[in-house]
Amino acid sequence: MDGLKPVRDLTEEAARDELAALAVRLAQANRAYHAEDAPDLTDADYDALKQRNAEIEARFPHLKRGDSPSDQIGAAPADGFGKVTHAVRMLSLENAFTPADVVDFDDRLRRYLGHSGPLFYTAEPKIDGLSLSLRYERGVLVQAATRGDGEVGENVTENARTIADIPKRLAGAPDLLEVRGEVYMSHADFATLNARGDRIFANPRNAAAGSLRQLDPAITASRPLRFFAYAWGALSAPLAATQLGAISRLATLGFKTNPLTALCDGPDTLVAQYQAIEAQRAALGYDIDGVVYKVDDLDLQARLGFRSNTPRWAIAHKFPAELAWTELIGIDIQVGRTGALSPVARLLPVTVGGVVVSNATLHNEDYIAGRGAKGNPIRGGRDIRIGDRVQVYRAGDVIPKISDVDLDHRPATAMPYGFPVLCPQCGSAAVREAGDAVRRCTGGLICPAQAVERLKHFVSRGAFDIEGLGAKQVEMFFHDADLPVRTPADIFTLAARDEANGLRRLKNREGFGERSVSNLFAAIENKRRIPLDRLIFALGIRHVGEAAAGLLARHYVTWPVFEAAVTGAKPDTAEWAELTSINGVGDVLAGSLVAAFRNPAERAAIDALVAQLDVVPVQARARVDSPVAGKTVVFTGTLEKMSRAEAKARAEALGAKVAGSVSAKTDLLVAGPGAGSKAKDAAKHGVTILDEDAWLALIGSA
Ligand code: IVH
Repeated sequence: MDGLKPVRDLTEEAARDELAALAVRLAQANRAYHAEDAPDLTDADYDALKQRNAEIEARFPHLKRGDSPSDQIGAAPADGFGKVTHAVRMLSLENAFTPADVVDFDDRLRRYLGHSGPLFYTAEPKIDGLSLSLRYERGVLVQAATRGDGEVGENVTENARTIADIPKRLAGAPDLLEVRGEVYMSHADFATLNARGDRIFANPRNAAAGSLRQLDPAITASRPLRFFAYAWGALSAPLAATQLGAISRLATLGFKTNPLTALCDGPDTLVAQYQAIEAQRAALGYDIDGVVYKVDDLDLQARLGFRSNTPRWAIAHKFPAELAWTELIGIDIQVGRTGALSPVARLLPVTVGGVVVSNATLHNEDYIAGRGAKGNPIRGGRDIRIGDRVQVYRAGDVIPKISDVDLDHRPATAMPYGFPVLCPQCGSAAVREAGDAVRRCTGGLICPAQAVERLKHFVSRGAFDIEGLGAKQVEMFFHDADLPVRTPADIFTLAARDEANGLRRLKNREGFGERSVSNLFAAIENKRRIPLDRLIFALGIRHVGEAAAGLLARHYVTWPVFEAAVTGAKPDTAEWAELTSINGVGDVLAGSLVAAFRNPAERAAIDALVAQLDVVPVQARARVDSPVAGKTVVFTGTLEKMSRAEAKARAEALGAKVAGSVSAKTDLLVAGPGAGSKAKDAAKHGVTILDEDAWLALIGSA
């Protein structure tokens, strides 16, 4: 609310305008929140707007509108959901679909751990609800938070307290204990709730989510929610030595845990348990969408650790998707941020597993033609044509797919689909590079579809994340005649250009008001200072995701250094060698980055943008607590206590850089039995040589 005129200084006219704008904005926020379960304002912002509205009405009672937001019932109480930063991130799970995937999972773990003995796992149903983290301090429930984006969730403590399965007090628990699990609704309760008719939910999961995320805990209390505990976050003392032990400890403490949890000794028993659970699925009385396998030994879990979003030690074996047949009424081609042409099936709407589906992905042109990735026939080589009867399948939240086609129903007039070779948006050639399944528009930034998708990416969450400038607004400004935004730099000149527009200024437009415009400009201004990693990610260069952007930023630290390095990095230069020496930056990523910086239009857009910004250098991740932080380490010979993969992952997790060969830059050589030439090289360069035990002692896990 900064930058607003104090209410006492408002003229009557300004007050009337602002009340009108607030009525529109708050009505939309109410709709987004209550009807769409997709809030478009933070709770704090919502409260601030309502407060402002009330203050203006108090000063000008005669201006109070018939549709005043103050009179709306069911509106948010003053204290909506706060945000909670999770002490330990809430992760998701990798998926497996076939028994072969399960064998792969087991193999991978064994290789990673260098483990050949028995390896035990737990298997338990994957509950189809929403995850919740419960924080207990000295045995008292002090906080409940939804998963949110995994880092920051919503504070739903009061609502969680209304759930009977959630203990409010624990006896004999560690001083700090975060219990995690799934909030869900049973089939019977779901049916009763929908019959009550206050609001119809599509499925029990939506009903559970909609009920937990109520601003009024009394509503949550009236909804029959349940909770299964299956994991934990921060802890002051371990619960047990094994996953199964920890779960049974949670049960002792008073949590509901799933009775179908079993201990298995390898892929065969895991798959047998999967089948046993699948056979009971229909009779369980609540939705499950697969079986979760977790390494039982918690020390092994700790050694296996995490990838960026999922633990290495667990996997979700999903049930087969649900199927339905319907008619393919058309194929649309969408053009994405990197120019990829994606065919989308338009379907006669059909219910698949309780959800109405009218669009599905067709992947790419080979898929439509009945060819697999290697040119091999799929679906027995049957192609897909408009007018065909097609089989739709969907698994959980995944985008529905077309899995098969029924030739017996093919209309005589149906013709093979001709995949476009020109971009339907800009008419540029759409080409397929050798080995690429995807056809891409070559228009780059001249293609309006690519340009607008790039802008959407630019303002998205992990990138510039500008409040009030989301995909919808970007789309609007992109096509705007008075105030066009075609490239990211245009966002930062928006306020100045608006100033020059006289009567056609944004604040005079329908749907905008003085306040919303000044908020928007303030939010943009706020992001002129941007950390290097966010900037790199925001550029939307193919293959450069959030993780890669972080690696690049931490390596080069400042924009000028990064820019010079990428500009100079032609293959066979020192810059190229340095770029590709960054762990996690391969030839493909480097090639894509260098090509983007060499493309004149791209480069002009990047330069114009950076000229508007104050780029904040990113500090190399300081791991002051680690004795190997910043050191370059080489492993050689046979390691006996762990595999190479694990050794490398752990060294990197402690801030070391792991290299493949010894050079003058190497700090440490860890040499197992059979070390050969590398040990000699190390001696030559005066590099410290450690054996495996000395290395483990150094990193503190001997
Ligand atoms: S374990 C670090 N176990 O599935 C691993 N998750 O796809 C934490 N889920 O976000 C998750 N049943 O909401 C685990 N028995 C179960 C589960 C389960 C359902 C959900 C959970 C998670 C999602 C990942």
